[in-house]
Amino acid sequence: MENFNFYSPTEFVFGKDRENECGKYVKQYGGTKVLLHFGGGSAVRSGLLDRIQNSLNEAGIPFVALGGVKPNPRDTLVYEGIRICREQNIDFILAVGGGSVIDSAKAIAAGTVYEGDFWDFYSGKAVVEKALPVATVLTIAAAGSEGSGDSVITKEDGMLKRGTGSPALRPRFSVLNPELTMTLPAYQTACGATDIMAHVFERYFTNTQEVEITDRLCEAVLMTMLKETPRVIADPMHYEARANIMWAGTVAHTNIVGVGRQQDWNSHNLEHELSGLYDIAHGAGLAVIMPSWMEYVYQHNPMRFAQMATRVFGCQMNFENPSDTALEGIACFRKFLHSIGMPINFTEAGAKAEDIPVLVEKLGVGDGCLPGFMNLTAKDAEEIYKIAANAVI
Ligand code: NZQ
Ligand code: ZN
Repeated sequence: MENFNFYSPTEFVFGKDRENECGKYVKQYGGTKVLLHFGGGSAVRSGLLDRIQNSLNEAGIPFVALGGVKPNPRDTLVYEGIRICREQNIDFILAVGGGSVIDSAKAIAAGTVYEGDFWDFYSGKAVVEKALPVATVLTIAAAGSEGSGDSVITKEDGMLKRGTGSPALRPRFSVLNPELTMTLPAYQTACGATDIMAHVFERYFTNTQEVEITDRLCEAVLMTMLKETPRVIADPMHYEARANIMWAGTVAHTNIVGVGRQQDWNSHNLEHELSGLYDIAHGAGLAVIMPSWMEYVYQHNPMRFAQMATRVFGCQMNFENPSDTALEGIACFRKFLHSIGMPINFTEAGAKAEDIPVLVEKLGVGDGCLPGFMNLTAKDAEEIYKIAANAVI
């Protein structure tokens, strides 16, 4: 196991009706004037926003509302948020929604206290050192942004999707009420489940030896998702299954399952070009990319994939030919994604094979490589996109 620091200071406020305590927690964490940030309307329609506004009013905390965050959140709204925060002397941002709203809130939080262009953080020109405090009320179990220091924003000009990360962006508190996820369409639930599993796999496929504890934690989260996702697809109001998925989503991305080991993240790198270019859901893009990446790289360490196949998907180990077991496990993953309604190839996801050169170009690997479980050159990325374009069950 490698040396590590584990820093996860977010207070998770979990369970039924907990959003009604928002005002109390904002006060506790020093907020005196709030930007209430939300998405395209689901939080308004469900009455959630009203409940949060009541809670802030009861605590005597003034707020300014800024809705309209789109999935794959855009830089344009971030600029507006920064302007509002500066003009209105806002000192706390409360994000009500999924990864897109939370990431937009984090970008506003960092940009408000930065003299330059906030995009500097996403283009790699600057590092986030300080930000306004952010908190979240999560409405979809997926991105894990409620417990991470990461944020991913899309620059509308050129649809360039890029991320940044900093301890300063970790939410002060995150309200996780599984009931809030019951209004999700099945497709969004499945996209979220795919993202959660991907966050675990990005950590599971490692070259670090002797990491039994994190291997087993990863496998536990994956097996939970295999059990609970079909249950909520069949019965969206199933509280206990929703609760298990919600906590799995947070656990998957606070990094507790990934500490002390090299991680991969190349499926995410390849996917971000897909959701950037076509504006498709991140989870749907991952469903197409991740099994294809697995098929391309498994020979780098077939035994690790065979371990996934036997421990997570219950495949029989073929000791004479572990590669067969590895491939069987990957096929099980793809079948599972298909069974929950995810796309499996470019056409189903709304992407085009003829755009592969554009995707590779936007990845920006040049003559170098993307480091990971297996280092990927631009040629490797092209081959993975080709597998993804033509994948079948
Ligand atoms: O905008 P509204 O109306 O709320 O609709 C949203 C949106 O259309 C809807 N939705 C959310 N909660 C709902 C609901 N509809 C009904 N009932 C509810 N309770 O779901 C749609 C998707 O929401 P979004 O926030 O985009 O989903 P997700 O949480 O998957 O976030 C995706 C974004 O997070 C980034 C992705 O790249 C993508 O941009 N990621 C962020 C990460 C991070 N910050 O750590 C890591 C991830 O790997 C990921 O890259
Ligand atoms: Zn993700």
